[in-house]
Amino acid sequence: MYVQRCIECGREYDPREIAYTCECGGLLEIVYELDMVDTSFVSSGEPLSVWKYSSLLPVEITPVSLKEGGTPLYECEKIGQELGVELYVKHEGMNPTGSFKDRGMTVGVTKAIELGMKVVACASTGNTAASLSIYGAKAGIPAVVLLPHEKVALGKVAQALMHGARVLSVRGNFDDTLALVRELCTSEGFYLLNSINPYRLEGQKTIAYEIADEMGWESPDRIVLPVGNAGNISAIYKGFVELKKLGIIDNVPMMTGIQSEGACPVVDAFERGDEDILPVKEPETVATAIRIGNPVNAKKALNAIRESKGFAERVSDAEILKAQRELAMAEGIGVEPASAASVAGLKKLRELGVIERGERVVCITTGHLLKDPETVLKNAPSPIEVDATIEAVRKVVF
Ligand code: F0G
Repeated sequence: MYVQRCIECGREYDPREIAYTCECGGLLEIVYELDMVDTSFVSSGEPLSVWKYSSLLPVEITPVSLKEGGTPLYECEKIGQELGVELYVKHEGMNPTGSFKDRGMTVGVTKAIELGMKVVACASTGNTAASLSIYGAKAGIPAVVLLPHEKVALGKVAQALMHGARVLSVRGNFDDTLALVRELCTSEGFYLLNSINPYRLEGQKTIAYEIADEMGWESPDRIVLPVGNAGNISAIYKGFVELKKLGIIDNVPMMTGIQSEGACPVVDAFERGDEDILPVKEPETVATAIRIGNPVNAKKALNAIRESKGFAERVSDAEILKAQRELAMAEGIGVEPASAASVAGLKKLRELGVIERGERVVCITTGHLLKDPETVLKNAPSPIEVDATIEAVRKVVF
């Protein structure tokens, strides 16, 4: 059994109540009676997937699933050696729509069906929209997605359109679209599937379960990941905490959140030692996925970072693009810019001495390279155009 509980005042809500936030304004989280949880997944030998851990997921019906999760954990010896750490990359770009959002959406859309909702909706910098669109299609429930006009990477817009969501391009930034969709969901009775929805985050916490599972139920020392609306870092932290409370792992890794210089309210608050963020009015970064000035889950994220003795750091667009190239060229891992912020952050924190030599680090690469081909083409040399003769070809190869 489980309830929805406010992280601020502790007030509990029935699991069927559609609240999103507490009356006091606090964020909600799903809390389980952990001593009742079946933990046979620890030794079942079942392949990794979101639903392998269904005893820790708040769902009562057959899931709306496209086989999400089970993403590869790559050991990255080259970059790891260069930085003096034991480095792994959990490549969430290998999910059905090419981002980690699918973990949350399989749970969130299933919940929408379970609760008898008629329409699902979200605001998005792109990946949430792509994901909601495919799970909406699979479940046969209409999906509405609000995107910030001209600030969403091409692949994500294509996905949302192709899978049949009603796609709105809003003249405003992500924070504006999120405020709008919250109002829309209240007035129209649509089910809101942004990460303020605590059920969606439950799916995302399975990233933690899979990492621990694959490491033989041991934790890495540190998790490094990009932070936008701040849901994922909160969810992954919750996943590790639950495993520790269940006695399955001994330690919770240091949660380390990376933002872009042009959109880093969580890093600013962390540095000030504040519990609350000051929103950034005009966020800007090449990593459009995390171009967010007023993250709704900031409180949960700051808790996660502080309680785990983690860290928050900002990186520049140039550092992000450099890390994206290095991951692609040295390790064969193709990620979108936001995802590369994790590796850029790892580099910076090694240089600053925050991350120590020899640490076992897992970077989460949240989205696939093909999400944002335009940024790649803008920053890579053009293909070499040649005549269709062997001489011409020979002349330009190595
Ligand atoms: N990386 C990628 C590729 C993302 O798409 C996002 C968020 C994040 C990182 C940050 O995750 O918001 O949980 O802190 N994208 C959202 C979207 C906002 O609408 O697709 P977060």
